[in-house]
Amino acid sequence: MLKGKKVVLGVTGSIAAYKAAEITRALVKERALVKVIMTASATRFITPLTFQTLSNNPVAVDMFEEPVAWEIEHISLAKWADVFLIAPATANVIGKMAAGIADDMLTTTVMATRAPVVVAPAMNVNMYTNPITQHNIDVLKQNGYHFVQPESGELACGDRGQGRLADIKDIVDCVRSLFIKKDLAGKRILVTAGPTREPIDPVRYISNYSSGKMGYALAKAARDRGAEVVLVSGPVSISPPSGVMLERINTAEEMMRSVLKHFDNVDAVIMAAAVADYRPMEYSEVKIKKSDEDMVVHLGKNPDILKELGFRKGKQVLIGFAAETNDVMLNAGKKLREKNLDMIVVNDVTQPGAGFEVDTNIVNVMTRDGDVKSFPLMDKGELSHMILDLAVDLMVR
Ligand code: C5P
Repeated sequence: MLKGKKVVLGVTGSIAAYKAAEITRALVKERALVKVIMTASATRFITPLTFQTLSNNPVAVDMFEEPVAWEIEHISLAKWADVFLIAPATANVIGKMAAGIADDMLTTTVMATRAPVVVAPAMNVNMYTNPITQHNIDVLKQNGYHFVQPESGELACGDRGQGRLADIKDIVDCVRSLFIKKDLAGKRILVTAGPTREPIDPVRYISNYSSGKMGYALAKAARDRGAEVVLVSGPVSISPPSGVMLERINTAEEMMRSVLKHFDNVDAVIMAAAVADYRPMEYSEVKIKKSDEDMVVHLGKNPDILKELGFRKGKQVLIGFAAETNDVMLNAGKKLREKNLDMIVVNDVTQPGAGFEVDTNIVNVMTRDGDVKSFPLMDKGELSHMILDLAVDLMVR
């Protein structure tokens, strides 16, 4: 998605400046073209040669002693940029941009650009939470600047709090998202993800191997395409994408309640969750003691959430998932009809690289009209966009 995109990376004088080298590498790895501008103080933390080597391009630095050269270059770089990224951004550079001060190569170029600007702040917690910094950030946001929020944690100065440069992956994600078409703007999409847990007693439960990766990737992709996303998630160990409304649940019944609460107000539901089909019929309030006898747990049927949605369906587009091990497409077609779905995404979980826990998937997608599309092994993020392309077609029909 970033292949051939021109990124101007502004590096300012924060202790996190060294992380900009990693950002350069990550962008170059995605085949973006990167040109770096450093402020004078950034060069005290890391040398221009590092960025020159990693970006394979000359690095622009403040050079007041050569005013003629930079005055021309700042305009050409500003025009060259498809996107402008400032990472790390100090309170100083944020303040200057908000006040319209352009007194060095970086601030002059950013003022002259028409490209979208992404700012990733990094600074001491007190500097970050200072109302003046917050005001400056608001001013820039109102003017369309994009921010990648700093993280909380231990800071280089020894303080704890918000101010640490965001994860490099999140910064690159934000840059990437600017190039994604916003064809789901104005749409509300509900995504379910992860397993459910059906308790036996306070310390035991029945569940499955679902990691939530497919559902979380779908929620993130839908968010990037402009949708308002509700993510109903079972217990997983991965972090939710920012900017989505997250509802955590444990059991299938809790998931059912949460999904039904939102159903009337959404345009599409993508049920990527691996909902347990059965739950223990009796729950013991106290831990069941081990005995010499075998133990029998009676399982009762859980509600089929998707089937219920298919029954209640109005304008909503309904997308189900099927994890199959045999008669894959035959079973999928049956489910599609039984649950009144518009589309079903089928993965043959016996294939390596498909299904639970892994970062990739291999799927076939069947739509209501019987059309089947096959997708080869691919990353769940990339696959999410392919699934959403098909969902968008169904939503405009
Ligand atoms: O029938 P099966 O469980 O294979 O169907 C899978 C699809 O149905 C998935 O989209 C899953 O999220 C959904 N499902 C559900 N409620 C259940 C079981 C599955 O919504 N109790």
